[in-house]
Amino acid sequence: MARHLLLPVVMLVISPIPGAFQDSALSPTQEEPEDLDCGRSEPSARIVGGSDAQPGTWPWQVSLHHGGGHICGGSLIAPSWVLSAAHCFMTNGTLEPAAEWSVLLGVHSQDGPLDGAHTRAVAAIVVPVNYSQVELGADLALLHLASPASLGPAVRPVCLPRASHRFVHGTACWATGWGDVQEADPLPLPWVLQEVELRLLGEATCQCLYSQPGPFNLTLQILPGMLCAGYPEGRRDTCQGDSGGPLVCEEGGRWFQAGITSFGFGCGRRNRPGVFTAVATYEAWIREQVMGSEPGPVFPTQPQKPQSDPQEPRENCTIALPECGKAPRPGAWPWEAQVIVPGSRPCHGALVSESWVLAPASCFLHPSSSDSPPRDLDAWRVLLPSRPRAERVARLVQHENASWDDASDLALLQLRTPVNLSAAPRPVCLPHPEHYFLPGSRCRLARWGRGEPALGPGALLEAELLGGWWCHCLYGRQGAAVPLPGDPPHALCPAYQEEEAGHCWNDSHWSLLCQEEGTWFLAGIRDFPSGCLRPRAFFPVQTHGPWISHVTQGAYLEDQLTWDWGPDGEETETQTCPPHTQHGACGLRPEAAPVGVLWPWLAEVHVAGDRVCTGILLAPGWVLAATHCVLRPGSTTVPYIEVYLGRAGASPLPQGHQMTSAPPLLCQTTEGSWVLVGMAVQGSRELFAAIGPEEAWISQTVGEAHFLPSSGSPHWPTGGSNLCPPELAKASGSPRAVHFLLLLTLLIQS
Ligand code: ARG
Repeated sequence: MARHLLLPVVMLVISPIPGAFQDSALSPTQEEPEDLDCGRSEPSARIVGGSDAQPGTWPWQVSLHHGGGHICGGSLIAPSWVLSAAHCFMTNGTLEPAAEWSVLLGVHSQDGPLDGAHTRAVAAIVVPVNYSQVELGADLALLHLASPASLGPAVRPVCLPRASHRFVHGTACWATGWGDVQEADPLPLPWVLQEVELRLLGEATCQCLYSQPGPFNLTLQILPGMLCAGYPEGRRDTCQGDSGGPLVCEEGGRWFQAGITSFGFGCGRRNRPGVFTAVATYEAWIREQVMGSEPGPVFPTQPQKPQSDPQEPRENCTIALPECGKAPRPGAWPWEAQVIVPGSRPCHGALVSESWVLAPASCFLHPSSSDSPPRDLDAWRVLLPSRPRAERVARLVQHENASWDDASDLALLQLRTPVNLSAAPRPVCLPHPEHYFLPGSRCRLARWGRGEPALGPGALLEAELLGGWWCHCLYGRQGAAVPLPGDPPHALCPAYQEEEAGHCWNDSHWSLLCQEEGTWFLAGIRDFPSGCLRPRAFFPVQTHGPWISHVTQGAYLEDQLTWDWGPDGEETETQTCPPHTQHGACGLRPEAAPVGVLWPWLAEVHVAGDRVCTGILLAPGWVLAATHCVLRPGSTTVPYIEVYLGRAGASPLPQGHQMTSAPPLLCQTTEGSWVLVGMAVQGSRELFAAIGPEEAWISQTVGEAHFLPSSGSPHWPTGGSNLCPPELAKASGSPRAVHFLLLLTLLIQS
């Protein structure tokens, strides 16, 4: 809804609707005095997916101003009467004072001098007494003008349908308005009236579409007195600011107003057509309000009544499926775009609509020439799958934060000629800002930017998305609350099956594609500078949805397709990371951790291919393990070692392997952080060598290891906690130098 103003009530006119949901009590054959013509416009010729109207095409369209600006649309139905939507005038259940509103008639562009337009004050606003909220219907209002409009070619009334009037499903009608051109994307200057062709949908079809889970998993009950118009696939619709405006259909050379723009779920979304107030339903109510006013609105008899009363010709319930994000198999991405800029390596991006490719802005920024991108777009080419020739580039639009914020390292390239979408090329789906990729979602990598050549045949890493908690606390904002499902996350962490990779793909650039119901979304771009730390984290793309749709006017932003959050989907996300998380969160453990991250610092240290030791991640580059496990007795040469992170306990150890060393001893502080207190001494499961005495050695070696404040001894929960075995004291006297630090970065490059 367009209004959020709170205003005192001065005039309140609410009247009942006699027989609102039945046919009019008036005789359908009763004719109007033919003193006023209606529904005629100059022969000529947003609303979402619409275009500029020609001046004079829709002479009944008015703009309703409040507080100096356009708020809603309306239609002139008689010289002194404007029809609009009730919700435009209601704040918290009260009607706003008529005196605060003005009606602009005969306007085309709302920028600059309103040539030929004139304004009228509003004497009264009338709303049906049973109007409460848009979803419950009766969303209509009548505005009585303080003085009659002056009619002319640009200002004429529309015809109103009688209650018996039948608009045939499938009829192409037109909606008009100065509303947003996409969700949260206002009509740009010069604010020219937009028009869009919409098809009338039968009630059953509309109900079928609205019964599909859509934005926010919501469904809607279509009620009598409502009318739907649009397309199952979306993309053309009315939007915020169009409310109150007319939906008109031509019959016998006159335009009849079938609907009043009322509401929708989002704008132009798939399976979410616009919902209008069915004007015919309210014939009796309208007649009653305007009674005695001459000349009044005109309700001509329907020119040609449809043959059979169109009792909903049992339309089949065909919902629209996403047009984006379908791939024949993982890796064969039909949206993969290669941008060729002469003199540099190809840059990988993704096709997001018929005309636009999304790619990292860093591909096109010259490091030397202070961020100004090259302008010789003539020589640029874009290679798309299954296209015989390279596409040419018309325009490059960089994200405004591209040069200083890695999470916004994005640019959009417009192709000179839009491509025909088919199986390939086909755009990838983009997530709306509120998209929640469920933990456990299946994700894959795709090349992004000037990455290294692909990792080889096994390179298409498959991953499961981790829950947000750990990912957030490890990579997110210090002390910040973990974003709830539905709030944009700060990072997306896929957990890889490392075996597939074989090596660390540190220097490559990748994007993260995540799948829902067989549809691929571009979920994340390039990983955080995390070295080889696991889990990887990607910058979420969803925060950029509004920018991408604003620039492209038609990128495929698709609603979430999977909603089953499971039992712990919500609760585990509602926490705050401990404030002492500094370079990342040490000692944090997700409450209900997915398998494999029960102890996220736990590492598997595979030694010389024949034993597995327990390791503890101390810092992004360092793992601590027990010397006795890593080194063979008497030997000082370091064997071949591989370290696996983020999976301890998740996957069975390789055939015949057992953890050689016992798990370490961890104690929890009152703040909830886990502190490493001891490492098991050789051959024991109960006796631990204390870490405390090794603090100096560890901190000298590992600059960035985290020690809790009271140096040397972690501060224990006061009042006695049973978390730590009392015989800990025994352990503190155990032999020194039982710890072996592994420098991860060396290992990983091998
Ligand atoms: N309620 C909106 C307004 O106040 C109109 C929304 C129409 N939405 C739609 N998806 N058709 O302007």
